[in-house]
Amino acid sequence: MQPSLGTTAEQHILLQQRESFPDASGEFSWLLSGITLACKIVGAAVRRAGLVDVLGATGDTNVQGEVVQKLDHYANEALLSCLGNRGNVGVLASEENEEPVVVIKDANHGKYVVIFDPLDGSGNIDVNINVGTIFSILRRDPNSKDPQGDVLQPGYKQIAAGYVLYGSSTMLVYTTGQGVNGFTLDPSIGAFLLSHPNIRMPERGKQYSLNESNAESFPEYFRRFLYWFKSGADGSAYTSRYVGSLVADFHRTLLKGGIFLYPPTAKNPSGKLRLMYEANPIGFVAEQAGGIATDGHQRILDIKPSSLHQRVPLMVGSKYEMELLQRFAEQDKNRAG
Ligand code: AHG
Ligand code: MN
Ligand code: MN
Repeated sequence: MQPSLGTTAEQHILLQQRESFPDASGEFSWLLSGITLACKIVGAAVRRAGLVDVLGATGDTNVQGEVVQKLDHYANEALLSCLGNRGNVGVLASEENEEPVVVIKDANHGKYVVIFDPLDGSGNIDVNINVGTIFSILRRDPNSKDPQGDVLQPGYKQIAAGYVLYGSSTMLVYTTGQGVNGFTLDPSIGAFLLSHPNIRMPERGKQYSLNESNAESFPEYFRRFLYWFKSGADGSAYTSRYVGSLVADFHRTLLKGGIFLYPPTAKNPSGKLRLMYEANPIGFVAEQAGGIATDGHQRILDIKPSSLHQRVPLMVGSKYEMELLQRFAEQDKNRAG
């Protein structure tokens, strides 16, 4: 009797491809298996952090001027290696690398670009709080000699995006533009199995998520918006939840609804989160699940990127809360005249 294995992430993407692109060669499924392999390697290290020497900092700082955690570096190496050997990836770009990495042996035929945040929320590693990996996949002209141009494409050009959350379980959530599906790693067989088919973000939630220590420097309309949540203006009491790992804060918002906000602050006047490997992939997943993602003024996926590590404000969440935020912003614009 066949064991009822369930649907693995690779099988699922092959099925999706066959449905929408009958001539699909399985290339995409092969690419995704490079990401899932790397994330299984990272997940194993996260689960054993404290026993193996991956806690703490490397002593380096990355292009962002942030202290590089050992696990940031380890995760980055895992993704560069697993994706660099797929044969169909021409260019890789990472939070941890100043410039895009051309995969020399595949530069003339690799038709994909993968951009990633190898370890998101790395400040939380040493205190055993959820961290994640975020990825964004674009097409490139295999004959391109311009890796920067290959990478700097607006978010609506993404052909797939998602994240892996290393939490109480290890979950893969991704979209190829046909909805959002979630897979849970079954460690006993080392496969991601379909556990959350066709995820839809609730139209409205009961939670808001942001780092309120920055409230003094938020734009005025934003402070009024926040007050609305606390005052229970329309009879609904919201609660605040903030982990400080984007993947964890977004995943909760995706499943339960509500809103995640990282507005401009005094310390980060253009916002803290990076467009190419945080806001774009998260924005694609949010929209595909029925949510909305903006920088406070425009759709995240419409932003024309100017540099690999550029930062943007990110507001993402349920339709109701995001449209309310939009109304506060518009009132502010009308008031300003
Ligand atoms: P990373 O660890 O990849 O640098 O990302 C950290 C980000 C994001 O995960 C999180 O939402 C945000 O930093 C938290 O910022 P604050 O500590 O300023 O709230
Ligand atoms: Mn991050
Ligand atoms: Mn990171």
